[in-house]
Amino acid sequence: MADQLNVISICGSLRRGSFNRMVMNALPSLAPAGMSIKEAPSFAEFPLYNADVQNSSGFPGPVTMLADAIRAADGVIFVTPEYNFSIPGGLKNAIDWVSRLQNQPFAGKPIAIQSAAPGPVGGARVQYDLRKSMVFLDARTLNKPEVFVATVGSRVDEKTGQLTDETTRNIIKQQLEAFAKFIVRHGGEG
Ligand SMILES: Cc1cc2nc3c(=O)[nH]c(=O)nc-3n(C[C@H](O)[C@H](O)[C@H](O)COP(=O)(O)O)c2cc1C
Repeated sequence: MADQLNVISICGSLRRGSFNRMVMNALPSLAPAGMSIKEAPSFAEFPLYNADVQNSSGFPGPVTMLADAIRAADGVIFVTPEYNFSIPGGLKNAIDWVSRLQNQPFAGKPIAIQSAAPGPVGGARVQYDLRKSMVFLDARTLNKPEVFVATVGSRVDEKTGQLTDETTRNIIKQQLEAFAKFIVRHGGEG
């Protein structure tokens, strides 16, 4: 592992104006010294997972791009909404594609999870389903501090896309500090 921790972020929402993206965009400015956070290659163009596609024409280019970025990263942060109490279909489809590659990219990978929602629960329920998928993929998922951004509309400036709420910024800072230590402890365990 290099001195600099190179972390990538994956937004679970494809929506223009996504609240989760606003939270994700704030991460680089909240990261501790020695951690850089960049957005992962997009999964927006992934076809629906179908083993026949994989077997006939191989893995689509955007899938291998995301997989390569995950393998190269010291850690991955998911920032995602909850859809129907679970993982948004697009994000789940992306995880499903990437998980079928040899040298499975999530194996041993340090993971942190954040969720945001307009409602009072902050998308908490998606986090447990995402953790469950990460267990199957043998990732190393940070337990605490958890980041649930509830009533997110009141914590951002929708015009500028800035995450303005100081309490939220602080808890995210704490999680990123914990994640940096977690990566140093568990990175490379795959
Ligand atoms: C298909 C769908 C299912 C949703 N299910 C939930 C849900 O289970 N819990 C919740 O808090 N919000 C739910 N919502 C509302 C989302 O939290 C809200 O649309 C949010 O803004 C989506 O995140 P984004 O702003 O990053 O796109 C759902 C929205 C959609 C489109």
